[in-house]
Amino acid sequence: MRPPLKWAGGKRSLVERIVGLLPSDYAERRYHEPFFGGGAVFFHIAPVGGSINDVNPRLINFYRMVRDRPEELIEEASRYRYDDEEYYARRSRFNSPGLSDVEDAALFLYLNKTAYNGLYRVNSRGEFNVPFGRYENPKIVSKRSLMRTSELLRKVDIRCGDFTYVLDVVRRGDVCYLDPPYHPASETANFTDYSAEGFGMEDQERLRDLCVRLDEVGVVFVLSNSDTEAIRDLYSGCEGLSFHSFITRRMISSKVSSRNSGHDLLITNSV
Ligand SMILES: C[S@@+](CC[C@H](N)C(=O)[O-])C[C@H]1O[C@@H](n2cnc3c(N)ncnc32)[C@H](O)[C@@H]1O
Repeated sequence: MRPPLKWAGGKRSLVERIVGLLPSDYAERRYHEPFFGGGAVFFHIAPVGGSINDVNPRLINFYRMVRDRPEELIEEASRYRYDDEEYYARRSRFNSPGLSDVEDAALFLYLNKTAYNGLYRVNSRGEFNVPFGRYENPKIVSKRSLMRTSELLRKVDIRCGDFTYVLDVVRRGDVCYLDPPYHPASETANFTDYSAEGFGMEDQERLRDLCVRLDEVGVVFVLSNSDTEAIRDLYSGCEGLSFHSFITRRMISSKVSSRNSGHDLLITNSV
């Protein structure tokens, strides 16, 4: 299934490799994705149950509205037109208080399809500030695919918060894919602005500790990150993990200079 949103750091190009590391019966297991973003792996797998989570409340409101009130969301978003004047009016509406959950989700979808590079970026006051993007006839609402997405999302618990929640919900035999904001591979490639708070080395350490716990509980996990010395060092003391490195072209920054290729690292306890 195609993900409904574009998302920076989206894993569409790595999906096959990630799924290839999972046990062959992964489709029948409960699946958890604590750093959901655009959920490329989740939509590829279309799991039978489990949980998804992201720290971004407006992203999560979007998925909840797709799940719970898809017709209203589609009706609202279908009213929005693609042109720069309307874009800036909708963007300022999105930044104003008092929106209903449905309007918030419809604006989120509209901005995702029409903002420059499909980026989601907020300033220190939490205001969405991405400029208008130029596209050839962008499709803002795909009714059929949103209805199918709604059906799939009804199978999972949708959370909004820190990734550590997952320890409270996993059971032995579950599968978990973890895709945190990447540790910066270089000074110019430090895109971690999904939220105003960022994701630093202390968070990477908390995540490593969580992976150790998941392994103890008997959960099969795959984690992606940039292939840096710091990340390899962080996991080097953990037993029973395997490391898989791939070259990928990164398209996460609006700066042309940092759209270069880098190495992605997949770390897993699956054998
Ligand atoms: C690399 S993106 C995930 C991309 C996703 N795999 C995809 O295919 O689109 C990382 C996500 O983690 C979220 N995030 C950042 N800090 C977090 C935290 N402490 N707990 C949970 N999610 C967090 C960000 O909002 C962002 O959506």
